Amino acid sequence: MDRKVDALIARMTLDEKIGQMSQSTAMNTLTDAIRQEIRQGRWGSFLNAGSPADRAEAQRIARRESRLGIPLLFARDVIHGYRTVFPIPLGQAAAWDPELVEATAREAAREASTEGIRWTFAPMMDIARDPRWGRIAESLGEDPYLAGVLAAAMVRGFQGGKLDAEASVAACAKHFAGYGAAEAGRDYNSAWIPEILLREVYLRPFRAARDAGVATFMTSFNTLNGIPATGNRFLLHDILRREWGYDGVVVSDYEAVTEMIRHGYAEDARDAAKKAALAGVDMEMVSTSYYDHLKSLIESSAVPMKAVDDSVRNILRLKYRLGLFDDNQRTPAEAKVTPQSLAVAERAAAESVVLLKNQGNLLPLRSDIRTVAVIGPLADSRVDQMGTWVMDARPEDVVTPLAALKHILGDSRVLYAPALRDSRDRSHSGFAAALDAARRAEVVLLFLGEEQILSGEARSRAFLNLPGAQEELVDALTAAGKPIAAVIMAGRPLTFHDTAGKLGAILYAWHPGTMGGPALAKLLLGQIVPSGKLPVTFPRTVGQVPIYYAHLNTGRPAADTELGIPLGTPLKPTGYTSKYIDVDFTPEYPFGYGLSYTDIEYSNLRLSRTSIQAGQSLTISAEVANRGMRDGTEVVQLYVHKLVASVAQPVRLLKGFRRIYLKAGEKQTVSFPLRGDDLAIYNDQLHLVAEPGVFQVWIAPDSTRGVSGQFTLR
Ligand code: NOJ
Repeated sequence: MDRKVDALIARMTLDEKIGQMSQSTAMNTLTDAIRQEIRQGRWGSFLNAGSPADRAEAQRIARRESRLGIPLLFARDVIHGYRTVFPIPLGQAAAWDPELVEATAREAAREASTEGIRWTFAPMMDIARDPRWGRIAESLGEDPYLAGVLAAAMVRGFQGGKLDAEASVAACAKHFAGYGAAEAGRDYNSAWIPEILLREVYLRPFRAARDAGVATFMTSFNTLNGIPATGNRFLLHDILRREWGYDGVVVSDYEAVTEMIRHGYAEDARDAAKKAALAGVDMEMVSTSYYDHLKSLIESSAVPMKAVDDSVRNILRLKYRLGLFDDNQRTPAEAKVTPQSLAVAERAAAESVVLLKNQGNLLPLRSDIRTVAVIGPLADSRVDQMGTWVMDARPEDVVTPLAALKHILGDSRVLYAPALRDSRDRSHSGFAAALDAARRAEVVLLFLGEEQILSGEARSRAFLNLPGAQEELVDALTAAGKPIAAVIMAGRPLTFHDTAGKLGAILYAWHPGTMGGPALAKLLLGQIVPSGKLPVTFPRTVGQVPIYYAHLNTGRPAADTELGIPLGTPLKPTGYTSKYIDVDFTPEYPFGYGLSYTDIEYSNLRLSRTSIQAGQSLTISAEVANRGMRDGTEVVQLYVHKLVASVAQPVRLLKGFRRIYLKAGEKQTVSFPLRGDDLAIYNDQLHLVAEPGVFQVWIAPDSTRGVSGQFTLR
């Protein structure tokens, strides 16, 4: 391959090389002008281009009628499904199930590749500790270890065993880097991240994706410590290429090259092209500064020819790896949902739902329940339950909770009253009908949350509450005196502290996708037992943000005795510890948290040894028992804390997890191997080392509880 690529590069004109480095959205339809440009080698890749038939024809022209026959690469944002929609990535992360994430990505790759798409811009692995940021929906949660494991699984799912298999799609690790640290949670905003935090937290999932063989990286829109990621040689060259030995393609984000002008980092498009090329951006997305200026930059020696050749080599290598030069390409055709894709979608939706509250075991409902009132703006909204990034999905494929409940219970047992038109509706005009339905039913199933357009790119919110009149709806419904089980669908952690007190049960369903309805109906009726755990901390109020489990201790940590501060009511100040006087310092629901319909008990932590050296390992185990009456799945979590280090360490850090299935009454010993090297941290000299010292370790149901012990690294 390398010889073929080099031979090709030797024959390419500079224009053809720069063409390969250019990605366009211009091929909405395959006009004669675009055909001509393809013949001339003007573009290396198209984004969001045309129909399957257009793509087939464009590829034929590139392969047969351009001078060198270099194939095109069609890219698209296949983020959580293509035609079949799986839960949003944050929801998938709540399943803590790499095998599931691999399966959803595999299905998405199968559908996308059927239509001629061989490059997706996923997974996104930006760590976000701020639910105001709308793109938290696309993230894999706040923890670098969890996000890294899941990102690697997603890469395996998209890329398959072999990139040149016809159902494989090149994945893209994005956004490199720091995008999720947008100040104030406002999209595209600056990120200030000290290098130690960058390496410990933000870069770790990217490293995991790189180790999983991710074919491409995308630069992020933001400045990182004042320097745009797209012109950031430290990120793109020093770390990605030199330290990590990465030989894949780096693509800019959408017009991110020329946005460096508005960042105040480049004078004009020519300067932006120069800075991006010198930093190591191989392909420019949408803006055309490479096409317009790279040639003269080379001719004036402002950019060395080697930079262009290196980029073209990376791009052609990817095209070879994808098998695009091979003659036996299949013809793109329309992708369809299949029984298999729908089964994966239902399983993913079921696993992603987190049971937050279940007072008096309100859930599951008895299967002989006479009538349920189905209320709320998200009970029957096909579009909203799909969530962000679903360009290729069809609402008609979606099964809503209302449809699924009617299907299982029969129409006559389901009383439906939406009450609100959509999640932002402020009108109370539908309340009376909803209250009437609630009065006539045994139980209220209330579908609340955020509609599709409130999360995702450029959808930051300053308030995290249930929008519109949803809280008032809950108040109104309490007058019926019926138990209320709420399902909340949202693209981010929402805050609903006071409302939660009025609800008997809460299932957090994110945006669950095509098969969210059947999954939720089965969860509500106990045909499936909830197993999801939060991949992100839920604040009590937006004022606690940023709030995350892996924080450092302060010199004055607040104590458990300082709990119980009512939300919003300033207390008479007491004490000098790190807390608030108008809300508890703790989250509403911690990272890793999630209930089940059965009772899981942890006991008997054991360490195979209490002292190891860096090259050695120990095994940490605990007994996990199902003390309840139902079979269930538990996500068992391993955390460590280094008591003393050259750099203060988080109060807990996730180091492992496992989903285990426990029959009612069953007990299992769950073991985690831990190597000394797994404990390496960036020290005060920014070196990654396993410093000797004492570690606290937990095997736990969430980030605040668990059985615990200690060992020493010598
Ligand atoms: C901008 C987004 O930031 C990125 O995630 C996406 O892949 C590109 N647009 C292409 O649509």
